[in-house]
Amino acid sequence: AEYAGAAPHHPFGDLFPRHVHSDGRYLLVLYFVFASSILFTTHIASNISERLAEREEELRAKSRQLEAALAELREKDRLKSEYVRVVAHDMKSPLASALSLISVLLGGYAGPLEPKAREVVERMGRKLEYLHHYAKDLLDLSRMRSARFLSLQPVEIAPLVEEALALAAAKKEDKRINIVVDTSTAPKEITADREQLLHVLINLVANALKYTPDGGAVTIRAATEADRLRIDVSDTGIGIPPDELPRIFDEFYRGRNVAKTTKGTGLGLALVKEMVERHGGSVSVESRPHQGTRFTVKMPLRQEPLAPDRRDGL
Ligand SMILES: Nc1ncnc2c1ncn2[C@@H]1O[C@H](COP(=O)(O)OP(=O)(O)OP(=O)(O)O)[C@@H](O)[C@H]1O
Ligand SMILES: [Mg+2]
Repeated sequence: AEYAGAAPHHPFGDLFPRHVHSDGRYLLVLYFVFASSILFTTHIASNISERLAEREEELRAKSRQLEAALAELREKDRLKSEYVRVVAHDMKSPLASALSLISVLLGGYAGPLEPKAREVVERMGRKLEYLHHYAKDLLDLSRMRSARFLSLQPVEIAPLVEEALALAAAKKEDKRINIVVDTSTAPKEITADREQLLHVLINLVANALKYTPDGGAVTIRAATEADRLRIDVSDTGIGIPPDELPRIFDEFYRGRNVAKTTKGTGLGLALVKEMVERHGGSVSVESRPHQGTRFTVKMPLRQEPLAPDRRDGL
C-alpha cells in the first residue's frame, strides 16, 4: 500500500505488474535472466572460437596439401620437359639424315628418278622437313629453358636483317610479296646473342610472309628508340582475331584463322618471346583481321656483361 503512491512515477510502472517487483522475486528473475544470458553468450563465443580453431587447422592442412601437390607438379613438369628434350633430340638427327638422303635421291646421285617417283620423294621430303622443323623448335625451346646462357657478341644490325630475310624468304611459297627493308636509322651494332637474334627475326619475317596472301607487303624496319633497338615487322596479311592476341605467344597455340590452311607447330612465337626476354627485351603485337599485323621487338643496346644468367659462354 505504501508503494501505491510512487507507482505512477516509476518509469516501468506499466510494463511490470506491480506484484512482481513488489515482492522481491523481480530481482531474482532479473538475476536469472542476466546470468543465463552471460552463460549463453560465453557458450556461443567459446563454440565459435573452437570452430574457428578447427577451420584454421583445416586450412593449414589444405595449404600443406596444396604445397605438396605444387611440388609434385613442378617435378612432373621438369620430367616432362626433360622427356620432350630427349625425344626431340633423338628424333632430330635421324630426320636430318633422312632429309640429306632425300636430297641425294632428288639430285640424281643414286640414279635417275622417274617423274612419278620424284614427285613421291618430294612429298616425302616436305613431310620430313616439317617433322624436322618441329623437333628443332622443341629442342631449341627446351634447351633455352634449361641452359640459361647467352653467347654475347657485337652484332651488326643491317647484315643481320638481310640474312634473316634471305633465310625466311627461301621458305616462302610462290607468292608475290613486296618486301621493304629500312635499317637507315638503326644502331650499327648491339651486344646480343647473334644466333638467337637471327632466329627471332627469321621467325617474325617467316610468319609475315606465311600469313600474307599473294600481292601483299611486308616491311622490316629497324631503328634506335631511346636506348633501345626497335625492330618492327609488319605485314598486310590476314591478321589475328583480337580475342586470340593474348595467346599467340603460348607454346603450340595457332590461330583459328590459320590452323586449317597452313602448317605450323605454334612454337615460333614462344621461341621469339623467350629469346627476346632473355636479352632483357620485349616483344609486342598489334593486329587487325584482314588488314595486317605488326610485331615490335625492343632490345637493349648493351647487355650487363656480368649478369649471372647472361654471362658469355657459361
Ligand atoms: N604475321 C602474322 N599474321 C597473322 N597471324 C600471325 C602472324 N604471326 C603469327 N600469327 C598467329 O600466331 C600463331 C602462332 O605463331 P607461331 O609462329 O608461334 O606458330 P606458327 O607460325 O603457327 O608455326 P611455326 O612454329 O611453324 O612458326 C600463328 O599460328 C598465327 O595464328
Ligand atoms: Mg611461325
